[in-house]
Amino acid sequence: MLSKIVQDALNKQVQMEAESSQAYLAMASWCEIQPGLEGVTQFFYKQSDEERQHMLKLIRFINERGGMGIVPPLDQPMVTFPSLKKLFEEFLKHELKVSSSINELVDLALREKDYATHNFLQWYVNEQMEEERVARTLNDKLELIGDDRSGLYLFDRDIMNYRGKEEDE
Ligand code: FEO
Repeated sequence: MLSKIVQDALNKQVQMEAESSQAYLAMASWCEIQPGLEGVTQFFYKQSDEERQHMLKLIRFINERGGMGIVPPLDQPMVTFPSLKKLFEEFLKHELKVSSSINELVDLALREKDYATHNFLQWYVNEQMEEERVARTLNDKLELIGDDRSGLYLFDRDIMNYRGKEEDE
């Protein structure tokens, strides 16, 4: 059975994953109407779907443990971007924020001696390491490319290759 404090913290994470899904959906939509960003568009649509899965996984865990997963209200995310570089910086910034939130949750689970939640959260710890790695790699690539149009063409063509493992559920 979840304690109230752990349940509330998990529901806050539900909100963060839902916000991530919305943020990446907005990025996908913006990219889709820019010329030549078909690959990046697909990347962010997929990323948005994955964040929804992260949210669902949390809701179902909370419910299985005798709590109640709460579907959160959501603010509108950033919908336009001054540049692709800026968009990817936002992506990395967002993932770093999610990682620190997951770390705080892990810490709370330990302090509350909730080992089942602690164990459940390990999946998220690994996932965040991977997502941060992907976000950093893509930012580094864009930095190298600068204004080189052929570099950008290759970046868009190859972006899916920088993704790590596919979701295991
Ligand atoms: Fe589920 Fe990328 O945070």
